[in-house]
This record gives sequence, structure tokens and C-alpha cells, in this order.
Amino acid sequence: MTPPPVRVDHLVTSGTFSLDGGTWEVDNNVWLVGDDHEVYVIDAAHDADAIADAVGDRRLLGIICTHGHDDHIDAAPALADRTGAPILLHPQDEVLWRMRHPDRAPDKPLADGDVLTVAGAQLRVLHTPGHSPGAVCLHAPALTTVFSGDTLFQGGPGATGRSYSSFPTIVASIRERLLTLPPETVVRTGHGDSTTVGDEAPHLEEWIARGH
Ligand SMILES: [Fe+2]
Repeated sequence: MTPPPVRVDHLVTSGTFSLDGGTWEVDNNVWLVGDDHEVYVIDAAHDADAIADAVGDRRLLGIICTHGHDDHIDAAPALADRTGAPILLHPQDEVLWRMRHPDRAPDKPLADGDVLTVAGAQLRVLHTPGHSPGAVCLHAPALTTVFSGDTLFQGGPGATGRSYSSFPTIVASIRERLLTLPPETVVRTGHGDSTTVGDEAPHLEEWIARGH
């Protein structure tokens, strides 16, 4: 009997994002990659109960944080506490993490080139700074998908107007690390709708010209 294939589950959770003295209402995409037995969560946003329900009785291998903005990490400690799963974050975003969770550090560093394996599928860590210094994307070739966090959305780059962001840096990350993936690669984002590399790639020069 062949094992059930790895799959992607999706939740949308609601809460707030705070930085630089402002607070905004946001809906976040929470992605789960796994099979009936084991799973990774990508971005434990806002609602640990809902995410734990989606994990179910599966073994949670880790909570991957695409970056340290508080809307993407606010439920990570609660989910870790109830499951025992480690929290994974690129060290360059620990400055952002500590704003929300000063008394609870992440458990493991993510680094460019790391490969996480779940249900026989690989998640390759791409360090894609710009939206934040330690932003990462997760490329899953077997699923023809990349989880882009807030680095690339349908219609353009993630925001770079606030502290710790850089527009030239995010453009370089998108150009060199994401638009070089196969064009059929589905881009599963941190907020809003999914897209594909092939749908976004022709617009890079427009984004550079408009400056965001
Ligand atoms: Fe963000």
C-alpha cells in the first residue's frame, strides 16, 4: 500500500498586526503541510485553538515562522506549549520576535538551504530578506509550491514601508530566489489569495518603477 500523499491544508485566522506604534486588523493564512501522521505548521497566526484543531492527532514536527512580525507569530508559543513542537525562526528576525514574546525565545534557527522533511516531501528554506531581515520562504518541489510569507503576494512584493524593511532588498530576494523557481510554482502567501511564479514574474519591472 502506498502512503497517502503529502497535502497542504489552509486556515485563515484573524487578529492584529502591530509595529512602529500602529495596530491594524489583519487576516492571515496559516498553512499545514503533511499527511495523516505528521505535519508542519507555517505561521501560527492568532488562533492556537483553531490551528491545533487542524493539526488534530497528527505529530506536529515544528512551527515554522516565515518572519517575526507579530501577526505571524502571536499564537506560536501557545501552540508549542500544547503540542511540544519546536518553533523555527531565522535569527535575523529575533529582534521582531522579542517585541511580542520577550520571555519566550524560538527553539531552533532557520538558515538558507535548510531542508525540512515531512511525509516524504522536502521544504527547502530560502532566506528572502526585505520585508524583514530574517524573512524566509519554503519551497516544496514535490508540491510545486512555495510558501512566500509576506515576501511575495498576488500583485507585488510585501510591504517595506516600516522598520526593519528594505524595498531594494525584497526586490533582490524576489528576483533571485522566487522568480527563478519554475513558472508553474504556486505561491501560497501570508495574506490573501495564492498566485503563481509565472503570473507574477512579468510584473517585476512595474513594481520597481512604482517603488513598492
Ligand atoms: Fe509581515
